[in-house]
Amino acid sequence: MPEIISIPKTILLSEAQIRNRIRELGKQISKDYENQELVLVCVLRGAALFFADLAREISLPLRFEFLQTSSYNDSTEPSKNIKFIRSGSGYIENKDVLIVEDIIDSGQTLKFLMKHLRTLNPKTIKICTLLDKPARRQVSVPIDYSGFEIPNVFVVGYGLDYGQMYRNLPYIAVLETT
Ligand code: IMP
Ligand code: MG
Repeated sequence: MPEIISIPKTILLSEAQIRNRIRELGKQISKDYENQELVLVCVLRGAALFFADLAREISLPLRFEFLQTSSYNDSTEPSKNIKFIRSGSGYIENKDVLIVEDIIDSGQTLKFLMKHLRTLNPKTIKICTLLDKPARRQVSVPIDYSGFEIPNVFVVGYGLDYGQMYRNLPYIAVLETT
């Protein structure tokens, strides 16, 4: 685990800004999926707080699913492995699915995730991310709902970590390394 080298102090997005934007996203999602059921998929661990707050702003019949991706670096290339925190199978088959992510950076995680989830034959699959960092995109990802576009800085808080720390900050701050 990396050493904690600084205390984040520059607040990029305040609690109020986050709350207001999530309210808007919830309204939009509720409208777009009117009269439908939706499966909300939480990508652990970073999206946990966003997921919990967003779900409470959506006025639809919702199902919750949780999944986790892990990166393993071997000698040549990084690969990703997806773990589903779920028993049984066929849980997204023929369902409308909305993936809830904390941040889209290079886009590699979402690309891999989408490819995998599509093999489970959902009816539709869309992406909702709290943060979008387009400056570092390597692969294009179809983002359907985005909370905030942010510059190329490393942020922590509201679920996002540095070395597993800072996830519990109620706001999003820039990690200062000097
Ligand atoms: P991607 O595959 O490059 O899009 O990686 C996305 C993942 O990288 C996120 O789910 C986060 O776990 C992590 N990540 C990217 N940027 C940040 C950041 O600024 N702060 C914290 N985690 C980040
Ligand atoms: Mg994530």
